[in-house]
Amino acid sequence: MMTPRISFDADMLLFLALSFSAIVVSSSDGPHLAVAQSSDNSATTIPVNVGVIVDLKTWVGQMGLTCVNMSLSDFYSSNPSHKTRLVLNVRDSEGDEVAAAAAALDLIKNKQVQAIIGPQSSGQADFILHLGNKSHVPIISFSATNPFLSSIRNPYFIRAAQNDSSQVKAISAVVQAFGWREAVLIYVDNEFGEGIIPSLTDALEEVDTRVSHRSLIPPSATDDQIGLELYKLMTMQTRVFIVHMLPTLGQRLFAKAKEVGMMERGYVWILTNGITDLLSSVDSSVVASSMQGILGIKTYVPHTRNLDNFMVQWKKKFQQDNPSVPSPPLNIFGYYAYDAARALAMAVEEMGTGNFTFQILNASTDVTDLDTFGVSQTGEKLLQELANTTFMGLTGNFSLVDGQLESSVFQIVNINGNAARGIGFWTLKNGLLRDLNPFHTNKYSTSKSNFGTIIWPGDSTSIPKGWELPTNGKSLKILVPVKDGFKQYVTVTRDPTTNTSQVTGYCIDIFRAVIEKMPYAVTYELIPFAFPNGSSAGGYNDMIDQVYYQNYDAVVSDMTIRANRSLYVEFTLPYTESMGAMLVPYKNNKSKNAWVFLKPLTWDLWLTTGCFFVFIALVVWILEHQINEDFGGPAAHQVGTSLWFSFSTMVFAQRERSFSNLTRFVVIVWVFVVLILTQSYTASLSSLLVVQNYQPTITDMYQLLNSGERVGCQYDSFLCETLKQMKFGDDRLVSYQSVEECDALLSKGSSRVGLQLQLTKSATLNSSFSILQQIYHDPDI
Ligand SMILES: *[C@@H]1O[C@H](CO)[C@@H](O)[C@H](O)[C@H]1NC(C)=O
Ligand SMILES: *[C@@H]1O[C@H](CO)[C@@H](O)[C@H](O)[C@H]1NC(C)=O
Ligand SMILES: *[C@@H]1O[C@H](CO)[C@@H](O)[C@H](O)[C@H]1NC(C)=O
Ligand SMILES: *[C@@H]1O[C@H](CO)[C@@H](O)[C@H](O)[C@H]1NC(C)=O
Ligand SMILES: *[C@@H]1O[C@H](CO)[C@@H](O)[C@H](O)[C@H]1NC(C)=O
Ligand SMILES: *[C@@H]1O[C@H](CO)[C@@H](O)[C@H](O)[C@H]1NC(C)=O
Ligand SMILES: *[C@@H]1O[C@H](CO)[C@@H](O)[C@H](O)[C@H]1NC(C)=O
Ligand SMILES: *[C@@H]1O[C@H](CO)[C@@H](O)[C@H](O)[C@H]1NC(C)=O
Ligand SMILES: *[C@@H]1O[C@H](CO)[C@@H](O)[C@H](O)[C@H]1NC(C)=O
Ligand SMILES: *[C@@H]1O[C@H](CO)[C@@H](O)[C@H](O)[C@H]1NC(C)=O
Ligand SMILES: *[C@@H]1O[C@H](CO)[C@@H](O)[C@H](O)[C@H]1NC(C)=O
Repeated sequence: MMTPRISFDADMLLFLALSFSAIVVSSSDGPHLAVAQSSDNSATTIPVNVGVIVDLKTWVGQMGLTCVNMSLSDFYSSNPSHKTRLVLNVRDSEGDEVAAAAAALDLIKNKQVQAIIGPQSSGQADFILHLGNKSHVPIISFSATNPFLSSIRNPYFIRAAQNDSSQVKAISAVVQAFGWREAVLIYVDNEFGEGIIPSLTDALEEVDTRVSHRSLIPPSATDDQIGLELYKLMTMQTRVFIVHMLPTLGQRLFAKAKEVGMMERGYVWILTNGITDLLSSVDSSVVASSMQGILGIKTYVPHTRNLDNFMVQWKKKFQQDNPSVPSPPLNIFGYYAYDAARALAMAVEEMGTGNFTFQILNASTDVTDLDTFGVSQTGEKLLQELANTTFMGLTGNFSLVDGQLESSVFQIVNINGNAARGIGFWTLKNGLLRDLNPFHTNKYSTSKSNFGTIIWPGDSTSIPKGWELPTNGKSLKILVPVKDGFKQYVTVTRDPTTNTSQVTGYCIDIFRAVIEKMPYAVTYELIPFAFPNGSSAGGYNDMIDQVYYQNYDAVVSDMTIRANRSLYVEFTLPYTESMGAMLVPYKNNKSKNAWVFLKPLTWDLWLTTGCFFVFIALVVWILEHQINEDFGGPAAHQVGTSLWFSFSTMVFAQRERSFSNLTRFVVIVWVFVVLILTQSYTASLSSLLVVQNYQPTITDMYQLLNSGERVGCQYDSFLCETLKQMKFGDDRLVSYQSVEECDALLSKGSSRVGLQLQLTKSATLNSSFSILQQIYHDPDI
């Protein structure tokens, strides 16, 4: 680092006398109090031509030029030993693209400038960028913020500012925080206005917010045209407006918006930094009367000592130059211009005392003016030096990434009274924050609780919901079926006197509940699919066709989702199960008759048991009648006792004693057999009596197919088609329309309409029929 040589004047001497060391320390880069430039230095310094193209009629242009000038004075006075000196060649672009291009051509061709600071607006930049690219002259703009102008495509374009797209995430975070699902974009119809739109639309889409309308306002629109556009917006349902334009047009827009009543409670206006950064240029009466409650995104400039010094100095200079005019406040573009000039001066100095020459291309005989400019020999090197230049500027660390400044912090402001009041911040890492604190976690937050108090338009503190019922809105035409049966799903009741229809039912209730949950207004009209005389105009497939041909917007009904149907329309998620089911009669309902007690055992078993009963009586008599007097006596008595003994063992109640061990053995076996028999009989009988052991007459589709029975199916149900595909002949299919009809058909067993097939959703019939759920192996379902 070279030691600065300081030329003494009276002020400096006093300053030095007070603190010499302070001068040495502060001689590093940074704005300083201006020190008059040494005259003997200029002999040894190399002048480097630099062009400046600004609109001197605008405040940003005047301020930018003054800031560039001050920046260079500050830089060279604090680094007097630097070998190079930038010489400014100022051209006024007069707010005109062609004038700006002509100025750039003149600077490159006739002045052989090494770099151009400017142009001011994005519209002027386009052509100048190509000139710069061709002649290798870096174009450094401090105010052309259109993201379309990118240094990737135009390597000789340097943007000493942030592009407009860098704020879109902040806007979408605000929209997300308040849960607004639709927004209208209002922007000026030029390069500046439309540059932000693609990235803004994408950012909003990422947070599930739809851009319901885009409103382009020509830069030269009259108040009447603006008014007409606003009236149009007023009739729509969306109440969230994002405005991207410059203050000149913006203040007219808001004055008009106030006039037509769009600054009332319920409206939300969000400004991009296009107006917010330049709010001081907006007529303060417009701010106070027409812009109350507006939210805005503002480029955040950290408060530093450099900045404070600069502001004091700037005010002094401005008052010197224009003693009669009160100084209008500085804005961010002044800071950008100041930093851009400083970066350029540093880069040029870093290049050393090279040849700042142009190679003049050979002039051919018939060329236009545009072809004959040279190519800067140092442009490429200068570009690299600029990319490497870093210093602490007025807006924070100056460092170019891909040829432009990057920032990850924006302030969210709320306009109240005459000024914008900060209500929070947005950072790339943390999302929305109440204040900037280096110790935040890594969590990205979009919670509205991070905002300070917001006063919305209409002096309201309640958060607007972002939509109203539209006055002009097109309402959805929803088709509903007209059916004779299964009216639980959809019922259309027609009132012939008023010619109106009332639609009710489960499907309609679900539809209404969904509409109510929507975060914005949806108006709709339920239209029965019927002829003027009230009879149904077609089935489900016809309704699908109506939607497919866009005669209607949607269908609400108990319609089954089928592969074939989904080729033409989109379905919602199903809200009821819809599965094919077979309804068949029970095989037998005669189980509860008087002889039911015989059922548990078969006739074989009854017979065998009887035989054993007699046989055991015989065996016991043979074994016992010799030795046991119980079995003695007359023959009739002996037979009776034996049989009685055999029978009473069955209930374990025999009183006769047995003396023979053989008898005892036989009785043990008999008792055991009897025990098993009685237990199984009891169990079987109780199961017969308690459990209704119903059996369906038919258990699967193929059995049904082969049985030749006639089959009923619900009118217009897809199952009829499916049955036909399964080779059920037309003569075997009977269609029914209602539960009652179905019941009647099933009950007429003799008329051979024995079986019904229908959806389970309608299977609310009386319980004397069994319902079998059946999954058909049909790829069409
Ligand atoms: C700054 O402006 C003054 C007059 O307004 C001029 O004399 C001076 O040369 C300018 N400085 C530079 C670096 O162009
Ligand atoms: C810039 O110039 C280079 C050659 O010098 C060329 O390849 C490139 O296409 C030019 N870019 C534009 C945007 O004109
Ligand atoms: C605009 O700036 C943002 C953030 O600084 C960056 O991510 C984006 O790539 C830039 N867009 C263009 C077109 O340079
Ligand atoms: C300056 O240009 C001349 C000829 O064009 C060349 O000989 C000389 O080396 C250049 N000097 C530097 C420092 O590039
Ligand atoms: C200029 O023309 C001369 C002769 O006509 C030729 O030798 C030279 O290469 C040309 N230079 C360029 C840059 O075309
Ligand atoms: C820029 O910086 C990089 C690394 O920081 C260095 O490699 C390169 O030489 C520098 N370029 C110039 C032109 O100084
Ligand atoms: C600026 O950059 C320096 C070093 O590159 C870093 O230490 C400092 O924290 C940065 N300041 C800000 C405000 O980013
Ligand atoms: C009833 O509706 C039919 C057809 O929608 C229409 O032609 C007729 O004019 C209407 N009648 C009344 C009294 O609204
Ligand atoms: C209703 O009108 C349609 C055609 O206009 C006709 O086909 C249908 O038979 C009519 N229905 C009744 C019940 O009159
Ligand atoms: C489904 O396919 C059948 C023939 O396979 C066809 O008749 C019917 O129209 C189709 N459905 C729709 C909604 O188009
Ligand atoms: C079931 O029994 C009742 C009375 O016992 C009789 O009316 C009905 O027809 C029977 N049903 C079948 C399917 O046998």
